[in-house]
Amino acid sequence: MTALLAIDQGTTSTRAIIFDINGNKLGSSQCELPQSFPNPGWVEHDAVHIWDDTVACVQGALADAGLAADDIDALGITNQRETTVLWDRANGQPVHPAIVWQDRRTSAFCQQHQDRNDWLNEKTGLLLDPYFSATKLTWLLDNVPDARVRAERGELAFGTIDSWLMWNLTGGRLHVTDATNASRTALFNIARNEWDDELLAFFKIPRAVLPEVRDSAADYGETEPGLFGGAIAIGGIAGDQQAATIGQACFKPGMSKSTYGTGCFLVLNTGSEFKRSQNRLLSTIAYRIKGETTYALEGSIFVAGAAVQWLRDAMHLIRAAGETEKIAKSIPDTDGVYLVPAFTGLGAPYWDPEARGAILGLTRDSGIAHIVRAALESVGYQTRDLIDAMEKDALALTELRVDGGMVVNDWLSQSLADLLQIPVVRPETVETTALGAAFLAGLTAGVYESLEDIASRWRAQTRFEPQMEAARAKKLLAGWHDAVARVRSANA
Ligand code: G3P
Repeated sequence: MTALLAIDQGTTSTRAIIFDINGNKLGSSQCELPQSFPNPGWVEHDAVHIWDDTVACVQGALADAGLAADDIDALGITNQRETTVLWDRANGQPVHPAIVWQDRRTSAFCQQHQDRNDWLNEKTGLLLDPYFSATKLTWLLDNVPDARVRAERGELAFGTIDSWLMWNLTGGRLHVTDATNASRTALFNIARNEWDDELLAFFKIPRAVLPEVRDSAADYGETEPGLFGGAIAIGGIAGDQQAATIGQACFKPGMSKSTYGTGCFLVLNTGSEFKRSQNRLLSTIAYRIKGETTYALEGSIFVAGAAVQWLRDAMHLIRAAGETEKIAKSIPDTDGVYLVPAFTGLGAPYWDPEARGAILGLTRDSGIAHIVRAALESVGYQTRDLIDAMEKDALALTELRVDGGMVVNDWLSQSLADLLQIPVVRPETVETTALGAAFLAGLTAGVYESLEDIASRWRAQTRFEPQMEAARAKKLLAGWHDAVARVRSANA
């Protein structure tokens, strides 16, 4: 029997899932990841903790499935992207906590150099924003004692979380990443598929710290035999949103998916050509297989599920995320209440790192239900902004495949279809991120013949058709835009 193991290292948790050839789950294990907020706008992770959790989760998934390392055909890795780790090659220890993708500590630098945005976008498809790895790495090299000289001497290694896990999984033998993760650093030229000397010079990054970039489905060697009771072949790496695109089988230009986790990331396959957005969306590498690059347009929203966490953990308005469905349904609408969850600024298409969250339109009748429902609706409005930007880029979406923890909420999925005014399709397996990593590993291992073979195994579970009148959706959206305008910073 085929067994494919995926490691899914996300922002708030680390998971290992074992799938059969058709994407059915055979076993899994999960660890919550503590978050550290040492200063306003800063977000850090303990990279050693991430590694320890990864080992524990793989062991847990094997035990849950009743399988041994020898039973696994191949392992794939998927990960929170952009999060930046710098470690000592000699002892394998990070020189600083990992700087997480949400971290805004470099926003002043990005503001100062906005005149380089177009230049950077032409090479990377990205924008000059603290979100991406480059300025985080510069910050580490400038602020950790001796880091810059040590990096120049080749003593330090930089990586996104995939590189960090690969380094540890292979006992320090491999310092590698894949093209999708490289495409999120703002150091990688996605048209030429190589690290870019001009970008390295601009961000003052010595080449010696960089990992080697490989295909997303490729032979990445084997895990250290001692880790899991036997060596496991590693056959794939992709950043989590790209992995979800693969797990949703969006292999044809025009196909799109949106994943609702901590944030929301909408990815539209644009085929073999690097297309630049005129509407502040990102261009990125969807996957690189056999040296062939497939590109995508991406809309990144920083807060989706995190808004529900905030309702639960900071505001104590709910006890569990699952309660939101019932609460949202308990009222016909928010009665003009909007919640703009700009807790860490606004992502696409606004790119305003200094914006902050707000609840607007409160009256004496407003209550918890209005705020909870407004938080859920903010996810739909933000997605609609992305789709409208894509449409302005002449890429109209006809349907959207959705996944991630939030879309198990039927009310939310229906509300998405209503606000987007296009059908929203939820697949049988909503663990599409992990599944995508497993698919890549299976492709390398010869479990699958082709991407078509993989696509034939994708199954829709529920299709949500828009039920709201277009005029009503338009009116609600106008109210949202008014709310967003009020939270934007003067210099965005
Ligand atoms: O770009 C950040 C993204 O990769 C993080 O995803 O699922 O950990 O919120 P997630």
